[in-house]
Amino acid sequence: MAKKKQTSGKKLGHDPFNDLDLSWMEEEEPSPEPVLEKVKVTPEPAPEPTPIAAPIIPSTQPSKPEATFHFPADFKWGVATAAHQVEGNNINNDWYTWEQEEGHIKDGQQSRRACNWWENTEADFDRAAKLGLNAMRVSVEWSRIEPRPGEFDDAALARYSEMLRDLSERGIEPMVTLHHFTNPLWLVEEGGWENPETVDRFTRYARRVVEVLGQHCDLWCTINEPNIYDFLGYIEGTWPPGKSDLKEARLVMRHMLLAHATAYWEIHDVQTDARVGLAHHMRILDPAKPGSRLDRRAAKAADRIFNQAILTALVKGRWVLPLGFGPAWKLRGTLDWIGLNYYTRDLIAFDRTQKGSLYISRSHARDAEMLDGGYGEFYPKGMYRCLKQLGSLGLPIYITENGIPDDDDDQRPRYILTHLHQMWHAIQMCYQVKGYYHWTLVDNFEWAEGWSLRFGLYALSLKNKSRKPRESAQLYADIIQANAITPQIIDTYASGLRPELLPG
Ligand code: FCB
Repeated sequence: MAKKKQTSGKKLGHDPFNDLDLSWMEEEEPSPEPVLEKVKVTPEPAPEPTPIAAPIIPSTQPSKPEATFHFPADFKWGVATAAHQVEGNNINNDWYTWEQEEGHIKDGQQSRRACNWWENTEADFDRAAKLGLNAMRVSVEWSRIEPRPGEFDDAALARYSEMLRDLSERGIEPMVTLHHFTNPLWLVEEGGWENPETVDRFTRYARRVVEVLGQHCDLWCTINEPNIYDFLGYIEGTWPPGKSDLKEARLVMRHMLLAHATAYWEIHDVQTDARVGLAHHMRILDPAKPGSRLDRRAAKAADRIFNQAILTALVKGRWVLPLGFGPAWKLRGTLDWIGLNYYTRDLIAFDRTQKGSLYISRSHARDAEMLDGGYGEFYPKGMYRCLKQLGSLGLPIYITENGIPDDDDDQRPRYILTHLHQMWHAIQMCYQVKGYYHWTLVDNFEWAEGWSLRFGLYALSLKNKSRKPRESAQLYADIIQANAITPQIIDTYASGLRPELLPG
């Protein structure tokens, strides 16, 4: 099965931990912060005793195990998208400018007309409705809504109203993300997320969006993946603004989390019943050699920096390294739900040769099945492991993104089935998973990877923008229709998974 190219042992890109304080290497690790509290499970009332009926003995035993994995009746099945990746002609944001400069995007590609959603979303909304989706995560583009500081474009807001109404008319509940990586050029000129004033500017923009779009939506995601934005833009420097500066990275992250928190209160001020959360990218970061104490400590440090620090700030109201020290009261309790964007895992090793990068290097398990385009390991168990961590926060959870770049769709059916099976497992363990948004409906502009990574349930022709469903589209539709993973679905789309999902 592990037929994809392996990149085992390879160091992946610039290391984020370059120049970080190395003192943790020497110090005894303090006992882990109890970031995560046990989930409170209300005990089920004891069932009424029922008279014992004679057992029904099937006349023939099924030849194969036939278990069905059911999902909750009100479960939300969606896809996730982001404005800049699908709309086209977003020419007033920092990504557009970034795309124009040579060397920034793979093969010199650009977003250009993207999936042409600004002019026509209806056709793709029809496709979504045909799949049976009852939810969709979309984002709105700040540079369209507020093209100049404090000036809001009513026509742009009207277009978004129209899109949200179109979704509702198709029985699809929208989740709207307010910030998904892109910034208006005017904001960047005024210092972007390094400038503390951006916190208030974002809040003013959020207020306006909710005032206008609130009639069609009450499920809001303030910011998408602050850790990825910060890491790629301010540490690795492969995304705008292309910086590599830990101090700035820290400042940006603090401002983003503050902006989330102030927007949280502002949104509730406009819409009392709003449900406001944030999409958090989590990766499983395991020690490359579990027997090595140094690898274990390196993996733990990486996990705290990348996965946990944000959660500690938002849930406990406390800054911890690398974000700083001390109270962050404003942040506390500003999540009505938490979003999980889960894709893959990395193995973390202590590496003496990586002196300037906290002695950490990343790699993949030697026997791992790899995803296309060096996207990482095929690691479904990570879905459960992330949900378990988030579940302990006691908040409702949406899987705001999960998906795979796979042009020929030879891995996606197994990816979807195994990841949803892990999600099912988490739901059985009483973690409050409310919905799943697959990334994504139609192949879209994948940031620095241009059009090379194909994440869509529908393949997009770059020539004429036509769409063609991949087999996975029908698989997803079948799961949604059954609201379950059935043996028939497994047999139809990935019979090889039987021993794993339906062991005899
Ligand atoms: C996530 C981003 C999303 C998309 C997927 C593949 O990190 O939030 O925009 O690019 O990766």
